[in-house]
Parts: sequence; C-alpha cells; structure tokens
Amino acid sequence: MSGVLYGLGLGPGDPNLVTIKAAAILRHVPVIVYVTPMRNDKPTVSLARSIATPHLIGEKKEISIPIVMVSDPTSGRQIYDEVSNEISGYLESGQNVAVLCEGDPLLYGSFMYVLDRLKDNHTVLTVPGVSSLSAAAAAANLPLVTRNQSLAIIPATLSEDEIKARLQVSGSAAILKLGPNITKVKKVLGDLGRLQRAIYIERASMEGEKVLPLSDAPDNAPYFSIILITNAETD
Ligand SMILES: C[S@@+](CC[C@H](N)C(=O)[O-])C[C@H]1O[C@@H](n2cnc3c(N)ncnc32)[C@H](O)[C@@H]1O
Repeated sequence: MSGVLYGLGLGPGDPNLVTIKAAAILRHVPVIVYVTPMRNDKPTVSLARSIATPHLIGEKKEISIPIVMVSDPTSGRQIYDEVSNEISGYLESGQNVAVLCEGDPLLYGSFMYVLDRLKDNHTVLTVPGVSSLSAAAAAANLPLVTRNQSLAIIPATLSEDEIKARLQVSGSAAILKLGPNITKVKKVLGDLGRLQRAIYIERASMEGEKVLPLSDAPDNAPYFSIILITNAETD
C-alpha cells in the first residue's frame, strides 16, 4: 500500500502551538522534509524543523530542501522537481512522508509546490497550523477584523505603488515578508496617513517576541515579522 503525504502545519514558532494532530503524526512518521533557506551558499536553520524537534521520537529519514530566496523561480522549480521525485519513491515503497511547514501549510507555504507535483498520484492529508496572522494578533491582543470588515494579506515584496493600491481598498491589512522592505512599507503607510494605527510584531510566539508601534520598528526587520493595521469596532 502507498504511503500518505502529510502537509504538516506546525504553527508560528512556539512548540506548544503545534496541534495534537500534527504532534501525533510527527511521532510516528518515518520521513520528514523541510525547507532550509540558503544564505551566502550556506544552509541556515529551518524554523519548521526546530519547532518539530521536541515532538520527534526515534530516528527519521530527513530530507532538506535547500532554497535560495530569489525572485527568479527557475532554480526552485528544479529543486522541487527533484525532491518531489525522492518523496514519491518513499510513498511508493509504503512509507508516510511529512513536509514540515512553519505556520499554516497553505498560507504562503512551500508545501504547495510539493502538493502540486504529487497530489494527482498520491494520498495527501494537509493538517492546518496556527498562522502568523493569528499568532501576531494574539501577541498584540489586537482583534483582526470585526463585524463587516475584511482583511487584506499583502506581501511587502510588492512595489510601493502596488502596496499602496491594495491598502487603499482594504479596511484592515496584514503585511508579511518584511525584512528590508519595511522601509518601503513605512513610507507608504505614512503617505496614506495610516502609520499611527500600524503595529509591528516580530517573532510572534517565539523567544524574543516584540510588539511595537510601527514607528518604533527597526529599519531592517527580521524575516519573521509582520505589520497589522486594524480598525476594530468593539463598541
Ligand atoms: C513565507 S510566509 C509563511 C507564512 C506561514 N505559512 C503562516 O502560516 O504564517 C513567511 C512570512 O510569514 C510571517 N511570519 C511567519 N511566522 C511569523 C512569526 N512567528 N512572527 C511574525 N511573522 C511571521 C513573516 O512576515 C514572514 O516573512
């Protein structure tokens, strides 16, 4: 019998936010796969692998996906083709495989590239995880949306004009993928007169978590940081 491919959401960083279902799968799955971001040709720490650590029992086969963070998707495509073939081999031999994902697997998660390549020929079970949006809102004790409001999710990697256009049609917004893009986002929010309402949350649920008014945030934010601009109606 073929194995099952799990897309395992492991939450935003705190291992206590791993769901009971994901923890149970982690204990027994023989093969785990995770993205290792490459920086200056060297592998950095995989956050998903770190979150999983206290939940793993015994020896596992580990497959790391070395991903260079560049906008050109060509090299990533080739790596995902190779890794998906390797995963397919384990599934066909009857072994279950879990792709470990920070946050939720289907919210800007790299699991979707493996899912897309393998879903037609294998059994796939996606286990949702606590997303960075929920963790950031919780860290700031900030209602995300109330009543008839809607929420835009905006990547800070977009151009200044595109971020502005999307914010102009959004009541509330979460801006992800900050890093050095935070300067651009601060400028746009300043131009729109929305800087005062913007909250910066760094490393939500992790050691070193910070919640600050965006005006006090650093000019080169870490990768695991997010901005929330909300306008809850709680009266
Ligand atoms: C590629 S997306 C992955 C999102 C993830 N799958 C989720 O469900 O939240 C990475 C971005 O999510 C945000 N993020 C993820 N975890 C975070 C955390 N613990 N604290 C703050 N932001 C986080 C950051 O904006 C980061 O650049």
